[in-house]
Amino acid sequence: MRTDPGFSELLTERLRLRRSLPADAETISAYRSDPEVHVHQGWDRTDPEGVRAEIEEMATRMPGEPGGWVQFTVEAREGGELLGDVGLSPEADEPGVVKIGYTIAPVRQGRGYATEAILALVGYAFETLDAQAVRAYADAGNVRSIRVMEKAGLRHGQTFDYVEGDQVWPIVRYERER
Ligand SMILES: CC(C)(COP(=O)(O)OP(=O)(O)OC[C@H]1O[C@@H](n2cnc3c(N)ncnc32)[C@H](O)[C@@H]1OP(=O)(O)O)[C@@H](O)C(=O)NCCC(=O)NCCS
Repeated sequence: MRTDPGFSELLTERLRLRRSLPADAETISAYRSDPEVHVHQGWDRTDPEGVRAEIEEMATRMPGEPGGWVQFTVEAREGGELLGDVGLSPEADEPGVVKIGYTIAPVRQGRGYATEAILALVGYAFETLDAQAVRAYADAGNVRSIRVMEKAGLRHGQTFDYVEGDQVWPIVRYERER
C-alpha cells in the first residue's frame, strides 16, 4: 500500500470528495445525530465538538497511512452543498486491505450519491493507494448500505455477530479485490 501525501480531491460527474474540514462539523453532526443514520453506525460522539475533534485528528494523517481513518466530505460540484462523508482506513493486521465507510444526509439519500462516491473511493484505493482489497461492514439489516456495496462491486464475504455486553448485532462484511 502507498500513502498519498498530495491528495487534493476526487471528482465524479456530480460530486467532489475533499478532505473534511473543521467547518463541516456542524452539518455532519446534524445528520449523524439523526436516529435513522445513528442506528446503523457506531459513532461514540455525534455532537459538533466531537465531530470537529475527529476531523482535526484525522487531518494529521495521509490517505493510506496506517493507524486510523481519513475522512472526505462529499459535496455537490454544482453549488457546493455538503451531502455526506466517506472514509477510508487501512486494516490494522492485513496489509493491502482498506476499510471504507460512508454516510449521506437523509434529505439527500436515494439519488445515487453514495454509490457514485464509493465507486470513486474504491477506484482511488486501488489505483492511487495500491490497495489489494476494499472492505466494508454494515449491520445485516441495513439494506440500503448493502445495496450500495453491491452496486460498487463489493461481494458478501462473511456474516458474524458483534457482541457488546448483552447486545448482539449481526454484521456483514463485503469485499472487492483489485
Ligand atoms: C447507506 C447510505 C449511505 C445510502 O446512500 P444513498 O445516497 O441513498 O445511496 P444510493 O442512492 O447510491 O443507493 C441506495 C440504494 O438502496 C436502495 N434502497 C433504498 N431504500 C431501500 C429499502 N428500504 N429497501 C431496499 N433497497 C433500498 C435504493 O433503491 C438504491 O438502490 P438502486 O439504485 O438499486 O435503486 C445512506 O442510506 C446512509 O447514509 N445511511 C445511514 C448510514 C449508513 O448506513 N452508512 C453505511 C454503513 S456504516
